Amino acid sequence: MPTTPPNKNILLIGASRGLGHAMAAEYLRHGWNVVGTVRGGNRTLLHDLADRSGKRVEIERVDICEPDQITALRARLSGKRFDVLFVNAGVTNDPRETIAEVTTEEFVRVMVTNALSPMRVIEALHDLVSPAGTIGVMSSGQGSVSNNTTGMREVYRGSKAALNTLMRSFAARHSEDSRAMVLMAPGWVRTDMGGPDGRLSIEESIPNLVKVLLSVQGTPGLQYLDYLGRTVPW
Ligand SMILES: NC(=O)c1ccc[n+]([C@@H]2O[C@H](COP(=O)([O-])OP(=O)(O)OC[C@H]3O[C@@H](n4cnc5c(N)ncnc54)[C@H](OP(=O)(O)O)[C@@H]3O)[C@@H](O)[C@H]2O)c1
Repeated sequence: MPTTPPNKNILLIGASRGLGHAMAAEYLRHGWNVVGTVRGGNRTLLHDLADRSGKRVEIERVDICEPDQITALRARLSGKRFDVLFVNAGVTNDPRETIAEVTTEEFVRVMVTNALSPMRVIEALHDLVSPAGTIGVMSSGQGSVSNNTTGMREVYRGSKAALNTLMRSFAARHSEDSRAMVLMAPGWVRTDMGGPDGRLSIEESIPNLVKVLLSVQGTPGLQYLDYLGRTVPW
């Protein structure tokens, strides 16, 4: 942690476990204050982190698929200013399921959670981000249309490609915006979602990913970057 805390604040949506929880811990290590969200009333890893953080972690609650909960969160946070808004929350379906096999209900669940709902959060909360701040979303390398030469994970890929396109539309609508915007690809990481065969540990991905997020601060416009700061082809 730096000797002089930077007095910076991140609002991290979906920080109960996995990559979101690790991002909260990493921003704390950089001396930032964290408002992290969970859903439901259960105790999570974020609660443990908050207990150890000396009041630098505040816990908020939102299910991003419930528009009323996004509106209520916006109301509770009014008056606050953030240097970063980052939407990490996401889900997957059975990766072996093709578009021919998926049920409509499952398709809608993944699309609404991964594409529509993160954008609803950004639309509702972006005005809490300072003019020199950063608006970020957790995408995936699987969201790249150009790199999709193997198929598989079809529904998940489609949801992250949709997220990327919706974020590009948001950025185009805010082309005069001074804030940095970024779609992040964390690599294939061993979490509940990534599973035990993932190429990277959380420790190999997230400290690097946070470095990349810190480095884009002050650069307006949208970028699609991986955890090492490399541009991902759209
Ligand atoms: N792991 C990988 O290899 C990998 C690769 C590329 C991209 N990603 C992306 O990285 C992000 C995090 O993945 P992960 O591996 O950490 O997954 P994870 O361990 O399954 O964690 C998912 C997180 O998203 C939250 N979440 C899910 N649906 C939500 C909703 N409707 N409202 C609010 N929060 C919700 C979960 O909260 P609960 O605890 O309440 O369920 C949890 O905090 C996702 O967007 C994922 O698509 C992961």
